[in-house]
Amino acid sequence: MHIHKYEKWWLVFGTATLISFLIIIGVSAFHAGAHPNNSKWTIDYEKVDEIAPFDNPGVHKVEDKDWDYEVVLVASAFSYNPMEIKVPKGSKVRFIATTKDVIHGFEVAGTNINMMLEPGYVSELVTTVDKVGEFVIVCNEYCGVGHAMMYSTLKVVD
Ligand code: CUA
Repeated sequence: MHIHKYEKWWLVFGTATLISFLIIIGVSAFHAGAHPNNSKWTIDYEKVDEIAPFDNPGVHKVEDKDWDYEVVLVASAFSYNPMEIKVPKGSKVRFIATTKDVIHGFEVAGTNINMMLEPGYVSELVTTVDKVGEFVIVCNEYCGVGHAMMYSTLKVVD
């Protein structure tokens, strides 16, 4: 079979375009921060208040774990519980968070802490806080009229 020179070129071009398209889709789909939730920990979002550990939100010092503190956080329109998180500098912190209603964000401005909170899923992140200061926690997912008022504070103390 004879393939015309240009036809062959377009075939190669088409295939290359398709492959790069798939790579872009693949990379963006699995890139942290903007992805369908990859959490395997599911939760009944209507009963968050009754389910451990979310029946006791706050900062908890833990022993015999790979981290020093567990921060249990519940987001809802339009606030966070707790309103303030205080941990000592240098501690390793595991953030465990979920939402009681719609999608919310959990971004600690000025740090690499950033999670998307989706109803029905628990989001987790372990990090070491090594910078002293007061960091504003903002919701970076539009969640309704009170979106801009939704914030909390992370205090890293010496
Ligand atoms: Cu919660 Cu925006």
